[in-house]
Amino acid sequence: MAEPEYVAVNRDSWTQANAEYTDRAAHEEWSREGITWGQWHQPESEIGMLPDVAGTEIVELGCGTAYFGAWLKRAGASRVVGVDVTPAQLDTARAMNEEFGLGLEFIEANAEEVPLPDASFDIAFSEYGASIWCDPNRWIPEAARLLRPNGELIFMCNTDLVQVCSPDEEKVAERLVRPLRGMHRLDWTSEGISTEFHIPTADMFGLLRRTGFDVLDYRQLYAREDSADHPYYSYVPVEWARRWPSEEIWRARKT
Ligand SMILES: C[S@@+](CC[C@H](N)C(=O)[O-])C[C@H]1O[C@@H](n2cnc3c(N)ncnc32)[C@H](O)[C@@H]1O
Repeated sequence: MAEPEYVAVNRDSWTQANAEYTDRAAHEEWSREGITWGQWHQPESEIGMLPDVAGTEIVELGCGTAYFGAWLKRAGASRVVGVDVTPAQLDTARAMNEEFGLGLEFIEANAEEVPLPDASFDIAFSEYGASIWCDPNRWIPEAARLLRPNGELIFMCNTDLVQVCSPDEEKVAERLVRPLRGMHRLDWTSEGISTEFHIPTADMFGLLRRTGFDVLDYRQLYAREDSADHPYYSYVPVEWARRWPSEEIWRARKT
């Protein structure tokens, strides 16, 4: 199928992000000891949303500079394949992989249509990759295709609450600015042009069930008292996220 037009838009946006901050930040992220989740760096040792990854084969959909994939490999995954659509992000990921010698593999592709065989992974993972930049009606079935029976899909994204409070401006608001009903594609224009996809939580449960997943766990995350504003992902201020959950993690098993 021809590449949807939003994929090129987001590639441009991430090429720019790479030049502005992700390339610079990659070394520190790859150097981090242990696994942390999301904007507020919540430790997996406290959150507990990952299965034991020792010996597993993992595909990361929208891997970016692949720091999360690096942490998963260090945690014992036998194979981590990062899929991303932005060459600049993959250049950074490859340079880090070379420097840290972790043996990740990378593929340049749209995560909605991955050139890898059916049933070839134990875990499909995304942290703010396909989980927000791809159409869930396309990437969730694609993740299911890539997973072996009993394989797990684990992903992090913003909550639907963030999105219904999101005007097309610099910061999330403290009021509802868009309907939740039918929410799906969000085209941003204020801070560069990009397209995200977010569906209501209940719709995500339905989509996962219809795609052949059992939801094993679902967690909403708040910022903690000791959390600080993120240096470059500043869209959700820490004060907002102390009062409302800004991030969520899904864990589902392919039946
Ligand atoms: C926030 S970064 C992911 C960060 C990642 N968790 C890491 O460990 O570095 C989002 C990534 O999604 C990628 N992306 C956006 N649209 C995509 C698509 N259709 N297919 C694959 N990757 C995509 C972008 O190129 C970008 O590198």
